[in-house]
Amino acid sequence: MKKFTFLFITAALILSLCSCSGSSAIQTDGGNKGITSTDNTDNSDTSLTKGSKESINDTSDEISTVSIDECDINTNDIVYDGENSKPPLTVSLSGKQLVENTDYTLSYDDETSIGKHHLTVTMKGSYSGSETVDYYILPPAAEITDVSSKVSDITISWNEVPNVDGYIIRYSEDKSLPDSSTKTAETKETSFTLEDLPENSTYYVTVSTTKNAGNEKLVSEPSEVIEAATKKIEVIDGVTYIDGVLIANKTYSLPESYGDGLREETLDAFNTMAADALNDGISLWIVSGFRSYETQTYTYQSFVYDRGVEEADRASARPGHSEHQSGLAIDVNTTSSEFEGTPEAIWLEEHCVDYGFIIRYPSGKEEITGYKYEPWHLRYLGKEKAAEIAASGLTIEEYYGITSRYS
Ligand code: DAL
Ligand code: ZN
Repeated sequence: MKKFTFLFITAALILSLCSCSGSSAIQTDGGNKGITSTDNTDNSDTSLTKGSKESINDTSDEISTVSIDECDINTNDIVYDGENSKPPLTVSLSGKQLVENTDYTLSYDDETSIGKHHLTVTMKGSYSGSETVDYYILPPAAEITDVSSKVSDITISWNEVPNVDGYIIRYSEDKSLPDSSTKTAETKETSFTLEDLPENSTYYVTVSTTKNAGNEKLVSEPSEVIEAATKKIEVIDGVTYIDGVLIANKTYSLPESYGDGLREETLDAFNTMAADALNDGISLWIVSGFRSYETQTYTYQSFVYDRGVEEADRASARPGHSEHQSGLAIDVNTTSSEFEGTPEAIWLEEHCVDYGFIIRYPSGKEEITGYKYEPWHLRYLGKEKAAEIAASGLTIEEYYGITSRYS
């Protein structure tokens, strides 16, 4: 029974093949697959044999493939992501997308490094030819992480981007960063300071990464554009303020008539601090608070008398240049080097910022502040500003980018 069925199917198949050859040998899709219809007008047995031979000869021209030249190959550059990555690529013919591995295969020279690369498209199946296409693996972009500004500087920082050679900073006062007014700077570091800018001016900044690839320098997409402004110096009635903070030092003076006592906020902050310090077993008191221009004249002259001008200038402000005249400074407990390292000095170092004070003339900053270390001299800034400046680890001069120098 099984054998009979097999024979029957085989016979049916042969019959069916014979009848096909006689009429329309193979139906095709009009040439794209490279196979064309045979002539189906001659149904005689002779012409079947003859026709078959002719058919083979005829299609030797017609079994042709579509050349790659007729196809559109589109690819785009990609951004390095640290992994094997391949550019997007399409091969199409008359708008119809061809299929990888069926119609073509791809081979890459490199899929991992930043630089210029090429890939080869090799056609197959009904298509023929091959073509090499260039593409770039571009350096990844940087991200700006921090911006700080001074009176004439803006410092920007960004994340370190691996596998790049450096960074390009572009900045302009024009938000659209037009070539005409955009400056560029290059660095290998992850921060850069734009220097010598006018005070109170706004700049727009972006950072890109760069990578040297052969004789080309590849530049990433720019980071987002950030806005940053240099700080504003205001002089109101002869008093200098930066960011609303009164400045009194060797460069910036106060008018002779300025000041009429310790400010209420300074005293309140001190009293609160002293009360809390006492709970910690620390006793604090004010030895010198407000000093008028006249008082400072006397104070400074005493220093000069004792030590000479050069030494006096390291310890005492000339009249008009003392923070004590502002009502925002106090000296606590002992104004001598004996105060250094005492439990009171250490307590102040740790806690005064919580009450809105900073140690105004820290150790090792004489070149910047103009004064030797004074662990007893506190400057009231208010809690927010004091915290900000203390956290920066900078003196007021460094924080705002100003000098303290007699002219
Ligand atoms: N001892 C500080 C610098 C002053 O005289 O104001
Ligand atoms: Zn002082």
